[in-house]
Amino acid sequence: MDGAVLVTGGLGYIGSHACVELVRAGRRVVALDSLANSSAAVAERLAELTGRPLSFVHGDVRDIGLLIRVMREHGVDSVLHFAGSKAVGESVGRPVAYYDNNVGGSMALIAAMHGAGVRRLIFSSSATVYARGGAMPLVESSALDAGSPYGRSKLFVEQMLFDLRASDPAWSIACLRYFNPVGAHPSGRIGESPRGVPNNLVPFIAQVASGQRERLQVFGGDYDTADGTGVRDYVHVLDIAEGHVRALDYLERDGGGCVAVNLGTGQGVSVLEMLREYERASGRPVPYAVAPRRAGDVARCWADASLAQRLFDWRARRSVAQMCEDSWRWQCANPDGYR
Ligand code: NAD
Ligand code: UFG
Repeated sequence: MDGAVLVTGGLGYIGSHACVELVRAGRRVVALDSLANSSAAVAERLAELTGRPLSFVHGDVRDIGLLIRVMREHGVDSVLHFAGSKAVGESVGRPVAYYDNNVGGSMALIAAMHGAGVRRLIFSSSATVYARGGAMPLVESSALDAGSPYGRSKLFVEQMLFDLRASDPAWSIACLRYFNPVGAHPSGRIGESPRGVPNNLVPFIAQVASGQRERLQVFGGDYDTADGTGVRDYVHVLDIAEGHVRALDYLERDGGGCVAVNLGTGQGVSVLEMLREYERASGRPVPYAVAPRRAGDVARCWADASLAQRLFDWRARRSVAQMCEDSWRWQCANPDGYR
C-alpha cells in the first residue's frame, strides 16, 4: 500500500468521510473535485480532522489529461470514484447531463487510469440498480433494472466495468451498491450539505427538527409495511466510508476480479420509525403530515449484506440512534451546511 489513493468527488458527502477513514488507515490521499456539489471549505475541515494538509485538486473527472498528470505526480495506484450527479428526480429532466457526467466521467476516468497504468478501482454504485418489486432482502444476484436515468447511468457503468475486467485481467474492481447513507462524522465538522429543499428523508427531518421547515411530508401512509410508510436500509456514512477501506484492502489482497457488493445494514426502518428516533436524538418534536406517495418510490428496500462480510470482513456497526445523533450534531453546528 505504497501508492496514493485518488478520491474523485472527494469533497462530497460520502467522499469526504472516505478521505478521513483512508487517512486514518494510513493511506496517502489525493482528492479531486469540481465543486459542482461541494465546497472548498471541506478541504480545510478534512485537514483539521486528519491533522495533515489534504492534497486537493480542483478539476473535472472528465479532464483526461489532468487526471493522468495527477495520478503520475502523486504516485496513485488506486482510485475511489465518487464524482457524479445523484438526484434521481433531476435525472429525469436532464438525462443527457446525467449520462455525460456519470457515464462520460467514468469513461474518462478509465481512459486516464489506462494512460497512467492504474488498474484498481472502487466505483460508487447504488441499490437503485435493482429491479423494483423483487423479494427482500436484495442480494447481489437479484434482478437488475434501474428505473431512472440516474439509476441506468450507474448500471451502465457497472456493466462497462465488468466488460473491462473480462477483457483485461490486470484490472481489479469493486462496484459498491450503497443503500441509504445517512448521518455525519461524530465531530460535527463534515456532513451532508444539500442545496435547496432536501430530497432525502434524514436531511429533511434535520431541518424540521431545527425549525428551518415546518413539517415533514411523509410520502405515502398506505404501503404494505407494518406502519404503512416506506421502509429503507439506512446506513451510517462512516460505515460506508469504512466499507471502502476494507474493499480496497480486499482488492489489494485478493487481486483481480470485478465484484458488485451491497453496503447496507440488512435492517429495514420505516419513515415513522426514523422520525421517532430523530425526535429522541434531538429532543425536538418533528411534526409531519401524510402526503401522497412519491412517484417512483418502492414500499420496501433493504440489503442482504452478507457478501461484504464474507469478502471484505465488513459490516455496518453504527445504530439508527447514532445516525440520528450524528446528523443532529452536524445540523446544530452547521445550520446552513458549508454555506
Ligand atoms: P455528493 O454530490 O455529495 O458528492 C459528489 C461529489 O462529486 C461532489 O463533491 C461534486 O462536487 C463532485 N463532482 C460531481 N461531478 C464531478 C465531476 N464531473 N468532476 C469532479 N467532481 C465532480 O454525493 P454523495 O452523496 O457523496 O455521493 C457520492 C457517490 O455515491 C455518487 O456517485 C452517488 O451517485 C453515489 N451514491 C450516493 C448515494 C446517496 O444516497 N448519497 C446512494 C447511492 C450512491
Ligand atoms: N421520504 C418522505 N419524505 C421526504 C423524503 C423522503 O416520506 O421528504 C420517504 C421516501 O418516500 C422513502 C424514504 O423516505 O420512503 C427514503 O427516501 P429518500 O429520498 O431518503 O431515499 P430513497 O430510498 O428514495 O433514495 C435513495 C437515494 C437515491 C437512490 C435510492 C436507492 O437518495 O439516490 O436510495 O438506492 F437511488
